[in-house]
Amino acid sequence: MKTKGSREEFNELIKDLLENDLVQEMKKYRQHYDVSTYDHCLNVAYLCYKFTRKHKSLDYKSMTRAAMLHDLYLYDWRNHVKQSFFQMHAFSHPKTALINARKVTKLNKKEEDIIKKHMWPLTIVPPRYRESYIITWYDKYSTLSETRQYYKNKRKQKKEAKKAQKEENKKK
Ligand SMILES: [Fe+2]
Ligand SMILES: [Fe+2]
Repeated sequence: MKTKGSREEFNELIKDLLENDLVQEMKKYRQHYDVSTYDHCLNVAYLCYKFTRKHKSLDYKSMTRAAMLHDLYLYDWRNHVKQSFFQMHAFSHPKTALINARKVTKLNKKEEDIIKKHMWPLTIVPPRYRESYIITWYDKYSTLSETRQYYKNKRKQKKEAKKAQKEENKKK
């Protein structure tokens, strides 16, 4: 049921975005470890949605939609081996994401600010809206959780492989 703060309501809010070809293209690129840029944006958007939906003074619609598009830069920065490229990417990708997001949907001023400032304080100009500050937090939080989950899965796989090997040795 589409109740306030539900996954269904969240899905409905970004339904048109998820159907867009450019947004779908994010599935091709790895954000970090085994998480695609698409899934990373979905994680950030859901966290932002859950938080802002609880507070009447916040614009949960703009928050959720912009969060889904915040990393729509559409390239794999790993293809560029130089460290300087990573640094450049960190500063420039919000702008690229914004240009692409404008092709996906009509953005309001708040949505533009959320996408453009999501790397703050790395990008010097501070956010204009509270929602833009919120994404700076959930983007970093999400990256940490995704990293932690990756290592957790790795450890689990290793443990299972060891166990299987032990069983195999027993049979011999
Ligand atoms: Fe980003
Ligand atoms: Fe991000």
